[in-house]
Amino acid sequence: MADVDALRVVPGKPLSGELAGEGELSLPGDKSLSHRAALLGAMAEGVSQVDNFLLAGVTQAILDGLNKLGVEWQLQGRRLRVQGLGLAPAADRARLGAPQIDCGSSATSMRLLAGALAAWGLPATLDGSPGLRRRPMGRIVEPLTQMGVPIQSSDGGAPLLIGRSPRPLRALDHTLSVASAQVKSCLLLAALAGDGETVLREPGPSRDHTERMLRAMGVEVHSQEQWLFMGEVGQQHRYYLTRLTPPQRLQPLQLSLPGDISAAAFLIVAALITPGSRLILRRVGLNPTRTGLLEALRLMGADLVIRPTGEQSGEPLGDMIVRHSQLRGAEVKGELVVRMIDEFPAFAVAAAYAEGLTVVSQAEELRFKESDRITALGQELGRLGVDFKEMPDGFHIRGGLPLSGGVVNSHGDHRLAMALAAAGLAAKAEVVVGGAGIITQSYPEFAATLRALGADVHGE
Ligand code: S3P
Repeated sequence: MADVDALRVVPGKPLSGELAGEGELSLPGDKSLSHRAALLGAMAEGVSQVDNFLLAGVTQAILDGLNKLGVEWQLQGRRLRVQGLGLAPAADRARLGAPQIDCGSSATSMRLLAGALAAWGLPATLDGSPGLRRRPMGRIVEPLTQMGVPIQSSDGGAPLLIGRSPRPLRALDHTLSVASAQVKSCLLLAALAGDGETVLREPGPSRDHTERMLRAMGVEVHSQEQWLFMGEVGQQHRYYLTRLTPPQRLQPLQLSLPGDISAAAFLIVAALITPGSRLILRRVGLNPTRTGLLEALRLMGADLVIRPTGEQSGEPLGDMIVRHSQLRGAEVKGELVVRMIDEFPAFAVAAAYAEGLTVVSQAEELRFKESDRITALGQELGRLGVDFKEMPDGFHIRGGLPLSGGVVNSHGDHRLAMALAAAGLAAKAEVVVGGAGIITQSYPEFAATLRALGADVHGE
């Protein structure tokens, strides 16, 4: 679908079939884990091997970045092999100068690379698309500066100019103002070169893939919850604490990545809203910091059977059966928001088909994703006749009426494009999603997978 910029979705066909754990018709490998495996593999001593690696625009950005830093890697099908530089790359890397790295539209690539560069003591300029330049980078620049990293942003955003960091870096004790795995991971990577234990506190349970992967590489990383008195009136708040002790070295990775639950989200919602649908999804990642959508859909009455099948490489995974369901409105706020932070486009579509009121609050972070997802969802679902009320920190949807067809736009946001396509499967008439080429950033086989499951979806 690389050359296709619009997707035409003809409603009325149920989705049925099975996505296996691997092979042609399967879920893509997890995006967050793919980023981390490529980068941590590059920081290890020795050769790492990662199976079911996601091949998409955003992971290409991080692999291109590694090229610029002289890291050797090979891809064979979905298998990635990376020759690590270790934590202290040889002084001869100075010949690389300070490369310009284009992170495309991937904030994960930018924030994680910034942390790795800081730990390695390598200079570079990190830049990206106009969309990426709008994403907030002050949240990594300020703590990295405290650690002694010479880093400059452009008005709190990209491009980021990173100089040669002194080694070791100063260990950090820092409280994140917003729960963010990208920020936490950036700082944990930098902390690998710290002069002592780094302590990070977060106001919510953001995804913990970096911590799990670092543990698998032999690093001492501890996570725990902590209640703290904050603010003038001394209110108690729950914080998520992560402590990392800098290691001598990272052992190489041997991983097989689970299917991406954030990609599965669109298929799950598509099956729930389209009459007659029944899907089986195998080897889906079920890390509890990522499964908020499943809980929210259950609150809506979704017929969703989940069978955990154990852990692989430190990450829980399992199989799922999803059937078309009569959904009802639900309320989502607080820590559930954090554990489904990427799933609101898909969730809003479920809400549009659910009987009654759905209320999402405490979710202002949605305004800082690939698009302002509160405003963009309101505009585009509004075009399909959805009763959507934008709130400063979320939205209200009064659902249950059939959606009209129409022409909608992705706002350059891969998840918005996939959610709108899913919405079209159960609408009264055709939905055309403009700007759908952006889907290749995270799920290039999305349209082909929907077709293989029976949907009438084609590019134009
Ligand atoms: C990601 C973390 C999330 C998420 C993004 C991937 C990651 O961002 O939205 O798609 O891989 O760490 P924040 O950590 O900024 O919330």
